Amino acid sequence: MRQIAYTSVATDELGQDDLFRIVEKSVSNNMDRGVTGFLVYAGNQFFQLIEGEEVALRGLLRTLEKDTRHCDIQIVLDLPAMAARFPRWRMQRVGRTGDALAQVRAELAKDQSGQQVLRHLHGFIERTGSPELVGQ
Ligand SMILES: Cc1cc2nc3c(=O)[nH]c(=O)nc-3n(C[C@H](O)[C@H](O)[C@H](O)COP(=O)(O)O)c2cc1C
Repeated sequence: MRQIAYTSVATDELGQDDLFRIVEKSVSNNMDRGVTGFLVYAGNQFFQLIEGEEVALRGLLRTLEKDTRHCDIQIVLDLPAMAARFPRWRMQRVGRTGDALAQVRAELAKDQSGQQVLRHLHGFIERTGSPELVGQ
């Protein structure tokens, strides 16, 4: 089990409908592959945490690299994990404010590796403007 967090930048190819399509597709694909996590879209940038078996995550990253709706994927964390932190989130939308973000904060604050993810997420939130909610 691993946790990988990355940031990326949306391209002109990302339309408003794509956000919903991405999350809808992610929920069904991730369910099949045992991948969970969350996605934040803010100020034209993404922050995503994906967690699951390493082979599933590496496969997903290869798919993500080919997706022309975003570019400049920067892995900010790549950590071994004992268990999924968000086992019920096939891909959860998280806004810059709101319930999902409060849940993310509470869960990640519990230990050191989570706190690392949280530091990156807070940096991302500070850098980017107001978010658009993504997901379901
Ligand atoms: C920012 C971003 C995050 C994404 N996250 C996921 C994801 O968690 N799971 C997933 O299956 N696809 C995700 N996608 C979509 C994939 O890049 C790809 O379009 C999709 O997996 C293709 O699925 P298909 O082969 O079933 O058509 C994401 C795309 C973007 C731009």
